[in-house]
Amino acid sequence: MKTINHSKPTLGNAEIAALARVIKSGFITSGPEVAAFEREFAAFHELKHAVAVNSGVSALHIALESIGVRGREVIVPSYACSALLNAVNLAGGVPAVADVDRITYNLTPETAAAAMTKNTAAIIAPHILGCPADIAGIKKLGVPVVEDCAMALGAFGRGGLKIRGDAAIFSFYGTKMMATGQGGMVLTNNSRIAGVVRDLITYDCRDDYKLRYNYQMTDVAAAMGRAQMKPLPSFVRARRSIAKFYFDSLKDLPLGMPPRATGHAYFRFAVEVAAGVLDKTIKFLERALIEAKKAVYKPLHRYLKLSSARFPNTEEIYSRALSIPIYPSLGIPGAKKVVCALGRAIGT
Ligand SMILES: Cc1ncc(COP(=O)(O)O)c(C=O)c1O
Repeated sequence: MKTINHSKPTLGNAEIAALARVIKSGFITSGPEVAAFEREFAAFHELKHAVAVNSGVSALHIALESIGVRGREVIVPSYACSALLNAVNLAGGVPAVADVDRITYNLTPETAAAAMTKNTAAIIAPHILGCPADIAGIKKLGVPVVEDCAMALGAFGRGGLKIRGDAAIFSFYGTKMMATGQGGMVLTNNSRIAGVVRDLITYDCRDDYKLRYNYQMTDVAAAMGRAQMKPLPSFVRARRSIAKFYFDSLKDLPLGMPPRATGHAYFRFAVEVAAGVLDKTIKFLERALIEAKKAVYKPLHRYLKLSSARFPNTEEIYSRALSIPIYPSLGIPGAKKVVCALGRAIGT
């Protein structure tokens, strides 16, 4: 028996053909494929400007630089990956960590408001695990919002939800909704932000000097991205149908279930186990050849050694949230095996 992975990209002949096209062209740095990917990505999301970069954290970093956060605070939710801390520090900002909602695991207008000060320059609001955050509500706080769609690509755009942040960022890391190996995108309707972001990644052959970054996406990654864009809606449909299967099959087990929010992309399906048994459950599943993980490796307030008492919801979620496999090629047969093993793991 083979292990059922926690994540897996959906790759096939279209990606092989795209890579062959780039290799045959002899142009493998940033060129026509990147330009086409940016055009197609912006059009899909019905926004004006897309700038492709080499990772999601690069996208976050330059989005923050375009807003200007040096020496000022940037609100980040505690239940998120350390990429957010890296981006704030790279942009010279000071992370101001906020608790999240107990049900959606997201930053909310209320939890963000509690972290606001006179020195707040921006807010990073991820759609955590693919669950849409209330960006319109967070924007009412009156500071620029970077909408982090790293986990929610495909829920937004044509026929889906609308992007509302001053800038939105995406990641195409190998485990994400669509994958280019490593890769990212900044998306915005704001011409000034788009101009600054583009300038920051265009450092060669410039007359002036300032600190700029070698963050450009390659045509190799962009060609894969273009190939992945076409089936993206079907990837999201597949995730949602596996999520529906999990909701139906797990409903009688003593587990907390993720929110059934409109537009949820189900990048992750995190169930909640009883306090104190999370590590044991992960180990049990590992022995049953099912790879499951903590939905977030470590909350940001813990990295910063802030008092856990200030982050009760994040702490509770962190102690219980178990991310089980979900991705298009898992299919219902794979999901059935996960359900069986999970039932045994929690002793039902
Ligand atoms: C919410 C979120 N934003 C940004 C990133 C950074 O993306 P990347 O890994 O492409 O740098 C991640 C990474 O996993 C993430 O989970």
